[in-house]
Amino acid sequence: MDFFNNHIKLFGTALVFFVGLTIMVAILPAINNQQNNAPLPNAVELSEEAFLGKQSYIANGCVACHTQQVRNVDMDKVWGKRPGIAADYAGITRTSFWINTATLMGTERTGPDLTHVGSRQPSTAWNLLHLYQPRAVIDQSIMPAYPWLFEIKNNLEESDVEVIVPEEFRKNVSGKIVASKEVLNLITYLQSLKQTPLPDGKSTAAFLYKKQESPSPKDEQPSMLPDGQLLYATNCQACHQANGEGLKGAFPPLKGSAIVTGEDLELFVNIIMLGYDASPAYATMSAVGTDNNLTPEEVTAIINHEKTNWGNNAQPVTVEEVSKLIDFIKTTAKK
Ligand code: HEC
Ligand code: HEC
Repeated sequence: MDFFNNHIKLFGTALVFFVGLTIMVAILPAINNQQNNAPLPNAVELSEEAFLGKQSYIANGCVACHTQQVRNVDMDKVWGKRPGIAADYAGITRTSFWINTATLMGTERTGPDLTHVGSRQPSTAWNLLHLYQPRAVIDQSIMPAYPWLFEIKNNLEESDVEVIVPEEFRKNVSGKIVASKEVLNLITYLQSLKQTPLPDGKSTAAFLYKKQESPSPKDEQPSMLPDGQLLYATNCQACHQANGEGLKGAFPPLKGSAIVTGEDLELFVNIIMLGYDASPAYATMSAVGTDNNLTPEEVTAIINHEKTNWGNNAQPVTVEEVSKLIDFIKTTAKK
């Protein structure tokens, strides 16, 4: 047969099939995909600093322990307000001509998912200390420390951001610990990680596979407050610490704090819902209560936990009092 002996015909036919199939099974579907997929209308593009921070996130191997995907299963509810959708990743393009796309969705969750960490933990001071030495803020943390992202200087320049590290974690460092540009960029990237809200009127898919909860004896007493200690641990402890003593130079103690043990409940609730920046001796507290959608019952439970622990011995407050103050904050915020 001439066809099998003629290399031009043979090769040509194979080439036509190869190119045709490639177009059909790879290129056309990819184009189709591109056209069907766009970032959500109010998605924010990474700033230049955040983009450099993403490079550092990749270089330091953070993806080995942190995912960035909220699956639509109930156990992922804590990592975002809604399950992730394709549009969340549609804005991610090639890093450069030579470097392929890094989606950083991850497969290992040794640490928490970071999809929404920009809302959960927006504090620069906390992130700096945590990256310098995770154990300084979270006792049992198994996250590695990243001291090479910091510089040691004897004299501060004006633009320098100093990190106040508790003595026991300084490990004979003499001099001042200063955040490098790289770590500041990395934190800008972490702060930019927030789920984009869906356009108005679009409802989100529900989280699936909720665990059936058996009615506990607690349900019979509707006036029982949620567990204040647990809520404190999830919302406040990362900064103010389990023993309520805070960290010198970064987070003030709540043990013995005049605000915690005092009578001014309005100030206390405002601090939790709106954040606080009163003293140059400490970092800034973000609007933890609002960011974490704390309910009046939860805020009351936290306040009462703080008022009656670590030697604090003040009168507990009621949900009604706290509810009124939160309603007031919400109505004034809308205007
Ligand atoms: C060996 C695994 C591991 C690696 C690598 C790792 N982490 Fe972590 N990370 C953890 C664990 C475990 C926690 C939870 C305990 C803690 O907060 O320290 C955590 C917590 C965090 C948190 C707080 C999340 C929250 O919900 O409060 C942030 C932010 C974070 N890591 C960022 C990073 C960055 C940035 C890198 C890379 C420079 C990194 N991690 C590398 C394990 C890791
Ligand atoms: C990201 C770190 C961070 C988290 C999380 C945090 N705080 Fe704070 N908090 C601060 C900082 C920093 C200050 C000091 C601000 C200043 O004085 O400038 C502060 C101040 C306070 C004060 C005033 C204390 C005083 O005596 O001046 C109270 C009360 C307080 N926080 C309660 C809470 C409660 C309750 C929660 C949890 C719902 C919480 N904080 C979560 C960082 C944090």
